[in-house]
Amino acid sequence: MDGLNDLRGGWLERIAEAADEAALEELRVAALGKKGEISLKMRELGRMTPEERQVAGPALNALKDEVNSALAAKKAALGDAALEARLRGEWLDVTLPGRHRRVGTIHPVSQVMEEVTAIFADMGFAVAEGPQIETDWYNFDALNIPGHHPARAEMDTFYTHRAPGDNRPPHVLRTHTSPVQIRHMEAHGAPVRVIAPGRVYRADYDQTHTPMFHQVEGLAIDRDISMANLKWVLEEFFTAYFGTSVKTRFRASHFPFTEPSAEVDIQCSWEGGTVKVGEGDDWLEVLGSGMVHPHVLRSAGVDPDEWQGFAFGMGIDRIAMLKYGIPDLRAFFDSDLRWLRHYGFAALEVPAVHSGV
Ligand code: DAH
Repeated sequence: MDGLNDLRGGWLERIAEAADEAALEELRVAALGKKGEISLKMRELGRMTPEERQVAGPALNALKDEVNSALAAKKAALGDAALEARLRGEWLDVTLPGRHRRVGTIHPVSQVMEEVTAIFADMGFAVAEGPQIETDWYNFDALNIPGHHPARAEMDTFYTHRAPGDNRPPHVLRTHTSPVQIRHMEAHGAPVRVIAPGRVYRADYDQTHTPMFHQVEGLAIDRDISMANLKWVLEEFFTAYFGTSVKTRFRASHFPFTEPSAEVDIQCSWEGGTVKVGEGDDWLEVLGSGMVHPHVLRSAGVDPDEWQGFAFGMGIDRIAMLKYGIPDLRAFFDSDLRWLRHYGFAALEVPAVHSGV
């Protein structure tokens, strides 16, 4: 019986000191496995006298139970400690401030192009495109601007360079979006209802002019389209775009590619140096327009005896400045992050007529 006490002390101590579950399992096998020390002791019971067995049996059983519970308790303690350690290792302070991620913004020109496209799409206009490097033919001749015409000089055209000895006429950076009229009619014929937004180029630089800027062309050709349709479309456009009813003023003008031609002003007021659209009795010029000249239709392969319609060309940067109160056009293209953050739009503010552009 003295031996049992030592046995008990030894096993309980080793169990208490087990470093992990594997060590614990080894101890279990060594104590209570088939050939474990305690199991072997129990086998000896058979060789004892009944009197001896009556004392040793319960004592061994108690020892076995005690070692078993010690193993189970230690196993649970090891598991708890492991979990504790893991929790400590993976601890996360959710009260820390989040890490700031910089998000870019949509440039006002892109935003306004989307707005313009949404409004005209609502009136049935599709979007057409053309190249920014154009031939003389599409940029000038096909638009009824012959070689000697002052408009060619007035437009401060950028010409591309030809190699010495190459006598073909140079290409130009398109000075307006009007060549898309020709390209679109050539490719699709009549009837037509398109807008063509895009970049255009002129050698000019001051507070309201940059060498690259943006226009949107409009073209509607059918059998009986008139100036009245033009007026309605433009008034509808300005009212949707500025979100308030805007009066327009049509002034007789001249463009080689339209007859008759009109420049269009919108109603505005100037107060304290800022312009407000849709009120007051000043006027601001925003576009050129007119009935497409028969020569232009013919250049594009459309029969002017059958088809007629209107065209217009509007400055996108100009109407962006007006709507969003941006004073200097040059800053549009400086790529200054402070400017972009201030005037830019969130990427998810998608313009739609139904949500108010
Ligand atoms: N292309 C002209 C410009 O850039 C604007 C313009 C005027 C376009 C009259 C048109 C138009 O389509 O009919 O100054």
